[in-house]
Amino acid sequence: MTRTVYVNGAYLPETEATVSIFDRGFLMADGVYEVTSVLDGKLIDFAGHATRLERSLSELDMASPVTMEELLEIHRELVRLNGIDEGAVYLQITRGAPADRDFVFPDPAATPSTIVLFTQSKPGLSAPAAAQKGIKVISIDDIRWGRRDIKTVQLLYPSMGKMMAKKAGCDDAWMVEDGFVTEGTSNNAYFIKGNKIVTRALSNDILHGITRAAVLRFAQEAQMEVEERNFTIEEAQAADEAFVTSATTFVMPVVEIDGVALSGGKGGPKALRLREIYIDESRKAAV
Ligand code: PDD
Repeated sequence: MTRTVYVNGAYLPETEATVSIFDRGFLMADGVYEVTSVLDGKLIDFAGHATRLERSLSELDMASPVTMEELLEIHRELVRLNGIDEGAVYLQITRGAPADRDFVFPDPAATPSTIVLFTQSKPGLSAPAAAQKGIKVISIDDIRWGRRDIKTVQLLYPSMGKMMAKKAGCDDAWMVEDGFVTEGTSNNAYFIKGNKIVTRALSNDILHGITRAAVLRFAQEAQMEVEERNFTIEEAQAADEAFVTSATTFVMPVVEIDGVALSGGKGGPKALRLREIYIDESRKAAV
């Protein structure tokens, strides 16, 4: 089946959807994005993603071409048109396509933002098998820019990080700055020691994960302690369990960090329980 995508007001077959070569997303990575997961054909935490999108746009002084209500309708329509049961909706808004390449921002009245959405079907996204196996991570230097709280499409270094991990026979990389873990290449990072979950506090150094917010709330409801502070790779290696969170992986156990095995080399019981709670609660609140 040909995928139906959304570009600047039109629902089109993916083969017919185009964006200008002058688009600032293409030339300058001048764009923001969101990834919202889909379970049972419904959107998980759409409100959280819409709120973060509005913040990303506002921090970059970029106009949204649609209201958040319209955005919800577009998400739902794409899920319906593509028959998505489990998967994700990718959304990108860029500062549009001016007449020529120029470092100066174009006048928004003359250059409307570009908006693109597409679905990704991922049957089995919520199945427990991959989570029970967990993922292996390496540590790499965090050399990204200083506004990681804005969800921009500048993903070259995270992409390189994943390749470094792959080359090392692992699945992902945790980034380290000034001796402390910031986050994973496309997820937030945590360890569990006893009854306590430790994760870096929110700042401009990391993306404010929508899954992170929900998981920390559910953890506290499940009587787990949450400590938001800097931590080192060594501390995580000495923990009982570790995990990452994101819209595309939910709660995913980390079973090895720089060659040191955790929780017996398989998904730890607390991380797996948190995943179960997160998926159950998210399904109930999906729209
Ligand atoms: N990535 N940190 C980074 C650097 C991320 O790119 C992401 C998400 C997260 C987790 O955020 P959330 O829980 O809101 O998905 C943290 C998405 C999934 C991606 O780039 O595909």
